[in-house]
Amino acid sequence: MSVKPVLISGIQPTGRLHLGNYLGALKNFVELQNSGKYQCYFFIADLHALTENPAAEDLRKNIYSLAADFLAVGLDPKKSIIFQQSQIKFLQDLKWILSTLTPVSELLRMTAFKEKVLQALKPSEREKITKEKFDEIVEQTNFGLIEYPVLMAADILMYDGQLVPVGNDQLQHLEFARTLVRKFNRKFGQTFIEPKALMTSTPRLMSLDDPSKKMSKSRPTGCLFIDDESKTIEEKIKSAVTDSGSEVRYDEKEKPGISNLLVIMSGLSGQPITAIEKEFAGANYGKFKQSLANLVSDHFAIFRKKKAALLQKPAGIKKIIDAGSKKAAKVAAKKIIEIKEKLGLQKI
Ligand code: AMP
Ligand code: TRP
Repeated sequence: MSVKPVLISGIQPTGRLHLGNYLGALKNFVELQNSGKYQCYFFIADLHALTENPAAEDLRKNIYSLAADFLAVGLDPKKSIIFQQSQIKFLQDLKWILSTLTPVSELLRMTAFKEKVLQALKPSEREKITKEKFDEIVEQTNFGLIEYPVLMAADILMYDGQLVPVGNDQLQHLEFARTLVRKFNRKFGQTFIEPKALMTSTPRLMSLDDPSKKMSKSRPTGCLFIDDESKTIEEKIKSAVTDSGSEVRYDEKEKPGISNLLVIMSGLSGQPITAIEKEFAGANYGKFKQSLANLVSDHFAIFRKKKAALLQKPAGIKKIIDAGSKKAAKVAAKKIIEIKEKLGLQKI
């Protein structure tokens, strides 16, 4: 039995990964894996992606693409269990059990849920929405979207996850999982561990076209995708919103655009922001942006090649993910017996 603490995280296969996913989560996955300090699980959250009702061919393609991202960036099946969420059949049992301990009101209060629900509205409508109108929309919302945090808690608790590397948009979901653990343990005896979030120094990267909004797959115009080609990277960074003035200086309030670009440069180069400011003292935005574009393009050059090569051989990807899913399913099959016994659900 491993004595290393269990570390687990998942990403939804909902489209190409952007720099926010990378600097907030994926880069950290690789570093945490390579530290050797944890028993790591990383998975493709394909069941969560289903809450957005994707077309089957898109979901299929995105699952392979995310698996290739995982492997190309350096997640290693020899060091981590890399798997597909939908292949863990006992996950449904745990999700159901946890849902019986969850008041609906807690789920309806989740910020991520509210944002998703309101996404369909125009910004002007969003601002002046009434409680009645909101309730009306909620009634039409698919139940999966409401239950989303329960499934996420099950993902973590199934493997006794203690540490969960995520961006800050997931903190509320993690807090919810912790509440569930306390509730369950109090009622049925010590069964789960309260998971803790692990965040990077970039827990919330902002959008290139609007630095007041977080970089998000749902707003592709503000995203820099990690598999973007050099030319696209350059174009996107050149047209990224900057601020008045010309000084390359970190100031979140007065210069949110440049500050966000500084965060990107620091995140990728490992240099502190103050050192970058010094390097570009007296330079204009144009020079700084060109340098950032080169950095981003170079940083992901090998990744792009590896990803393309992996996608040429989908059978290789499938083999790795299948093997990982089998390992995770074994752990889940054992844990679910313990959980059911605690609940009084043992086989008669
Ligand atoms: P998702 O694509 O929603 O499954 O997100 C994958 C991971 O990326 C999660 O841990 C998110 O918290 C993280 N993430 C998403 N957007 C950002 C962002 N703009 N900045 C930092 N982390 C992010
Ligand atoms: N909800 C997460 C996101 O959107 C993805 C996710 C699903 C996850 N299950 C998880 C993350 C368990 C960490 C642990 O990014």
